[in-house]
Amino acid sequence: MINQQQLWDAHAAKHYDTPGEGMFSADVLAPTVAVLAELAQGGPAVEFAIGTGRVAIPLSEAGVPVSGIELSMR
Ligand SMILES: C[S@@+](CC[C@H](N)C(=O)[O-])C[C@H]1O[C@@H](n2cnc3c(N)ncnc32)[C@H](O)[C@@H]1O
Repeated sequence: MINQQQLWDAHAAKHYDTPGEGMFSADVLAPTVAVLAELAQGGPAVEFAIGTGRVAIPLSEAGVPVSGIELSMR
């Protein structure tokens, strides 16, 4: 069984955040943020397993106060 430290290792960390590509593309994030902001109805949001803030940062920039819970401390 692979543990979190093996799954999210230095290699994954180095290549995970690629702005503008794949799940970081505006095509993916813009509609995601729009739906989440609508669901928040002007209130705050909590993202479980927030990671590097891929969703939380643009959601916050859209005006939704976002808090996050994250296992990784690196
Ligand atoms: C695939 S990433 C997704 C990150 C973010 N939600 C996103 O969509 O970009 C999964 C994240 O879940 C975190 N995670 C896994 N198990 C967790 C737990 N039990 N409590 C908090 N975070 C956890 C990992 O450290 C990792 O950052």
